[in-house]
Amino acid sequence: MYTQSFNVPDSPGLKSVPLAPSTESAESQARFDNKIDADGKIEPQDWMPDAYRKTLVRQISQHAHSEIVGMLPEGNWISRAPSLKRKAILIAKVQDEGGHGLYLYSAAETLGTSRDQMLEGLHSGKAKYSSIFNYPTLNWADMGVVGWLVDGAAIMNQIPLCRCSYGPYARAMIRVCKEESFHQRQGYEALLVMMQGTAEQKAMVQDAVNRWWWKCLAMFGPPDADSPHSAQAMRWGIKRISNDDLRQKFVDATVPQAKVLGVTLPDPDLKWNEERQHHDYGQIDWDEFWSTVNGNGPCNKERLATRVKAHNDGQWVRNAALAYSRKQQTQATKEAA
Ligand SMILES: [Fe+2]
Ligand SMILES: [Fe+2]
Repeated sequence: MYTQSFNVPDSPGLKSVPLAPSTESAESQARFDNKIDADGKIEPQDWMPDAYRKTLVRQISQHAHSEIVGMLPEGNWISRAPSLKRKAILIAKVQDEGGHGLYLYSAAETLGTSRDQMLEGLHSGKAKYSSIFNYPTLNWADMGVVGWLVDGAAIMNQIPLCRCSYGPYARAMIRVCKEESFHQRQGYEALLVMMQGTAEQKAMVQDAVNRWWWKCLAMFGPPDADSPHSAQAMRWGIKRISNDDLRQKFVDATVPQAKVLGVTLPDPDLKWNEERQHHDYGQIDWDEFWSTVNGNGPCNKERLATRVKAHNDGQWVRNAALAYSRKQQTQATKEAA
């Protein structure tokens, strides 16, 4: 659902295993630089600097983990959706997120890291995923707000990734973004319906907006001035738009949507700035953000425990698939003999 726009410390479980020879020669470097300058795509078989490969492995695997962990806060509401229609929509959305995780693990695998290495990083707590999923989803309106604002912020972040310099990541993002657009719309539509309902329903929507708004602004990552790795990622064509610019685009796009919906965005400093032709907005609580990134958010432990349990519970499926494939191989060998 979303990619984190900041760098977290290297995860020992996520060491990349270069497929192409990594001996840096001036010639390979020049070929790589020229391709980047010409806005071309780097493909798995191409030579690439180790730091480029490492940055991509970290970003794509974090993105994949975010999709997978992102299934949990919403999966929690499938059995409590208020109607068959909402249940079907929510199941489809959660299933999409699982699919996004799988595309992205596949994209990261093309860089020479294995699925097992990436899962080990996630399950041991060494690898990060988007912190937004470490907050609870308290009522049904949260499902609408997560779609509208969290998926909305994810789209803002992910559309520029369709032009990322690494081919497999850029191509995966095209389909992911189309599906994210459905996620955002279904959330907004669910909220529109609730806002035509009772005073209690309207209050639920406003309460959910109040709880999620600031956390969604933080999803774009720290201010540009505190994001030292961003410049390199931009130079490499991995990142196309800075954290602050994406955040501004999101605020400007969301304000009119909030007006149509009839909710207030919980920021007294939010106002149109005629001179800048953008909305000004208040201060984000970065201490709270970093505390959650570092494992102390309200649901960090619960999310990880649920994910590890789901993985362990699925062991028999993996065993069965392996046994079946071995059986097929034995059969094929027998037939060939
Ligand atoms: Fe999504
Ligand atoms: Fe997604």
